[in-house]
Amino acid sequence: MIKIKENVNDVQEFNHLYKEVGWRVFPDEISRKALANTFYSVSVYNGDEIIGYGRIIGDSICFLYIHSVMVAPLYQNKKVGTLIMKKLLKKVAEVKKENPNLKVYLGSLKGKEDFYKKFGFVARSETDLGEAMVLKDRV
Ligand SMILES: CC(C)(COP(=O)(O)OP(=O)(O)OC[C@H]1O[C@@H](n2cnc3c(N)ncnc32)[C@H](O)[C@@H]1OP(=O)(O)O)[C@@H](O)C(=O)NCCC(=O)NCCS
Repeated sequence: MIKIKENVNDVQEFNHLYKEVGWRVFPDEISRKALANTFYSVSVYNGDEIIGYGRIIGDSICFLYIHSVMVAPLYQNKKVGTLIMKKLLKKVAEVKKENPNLKVYLGSLKGKEDFYKKFGFVARSETDLGEAMVLKDRV
């Protein structure tokens, strides 16, 4: 049975999913520190097995950033990512009630843009904003 839990931020589960989706896993201490500064997160389980995760980081009221959205390969294309995004956007809607000028960002990996477009995100080039930038030695 699929279960959703909020704000679990378990380091082992987080690093497990990072590995599953093929990302470079942070040492536990780094992940622990990162997760401790998460504003809101969603963990998805099949029974007791972690199968998906997504989180919001940011200043909690003006600028939010959706990050670490990941679904274990075996469970991809079964709407688990949709479940995660809907839950994250529900939290966004709550914050927006408090601050209608809230800005919500994310940095899509190449090839994942169409997934995020389904939830209302657009490329910055389609807006009057400048290009997103990233510090070169961290790419
Ligand atoms: C990207 C990811 C989160 C999507 O989650 P998912 O559970 O597989 O996606 P869903 O089943 O909810 O798909 C929802 C819709 O998005 C589409 N979609 C899913 N992955 C997509 C992709 N990589 N590119 C384009 N569209 C995609 C689906 O076809 C589906 O379309 P539909 O509503 O028309 O049927 C998941 O594949 C994943 O974890 N990938 C590896 C980690 C990753 O790259 N995360 C994103 C970081 S920016």
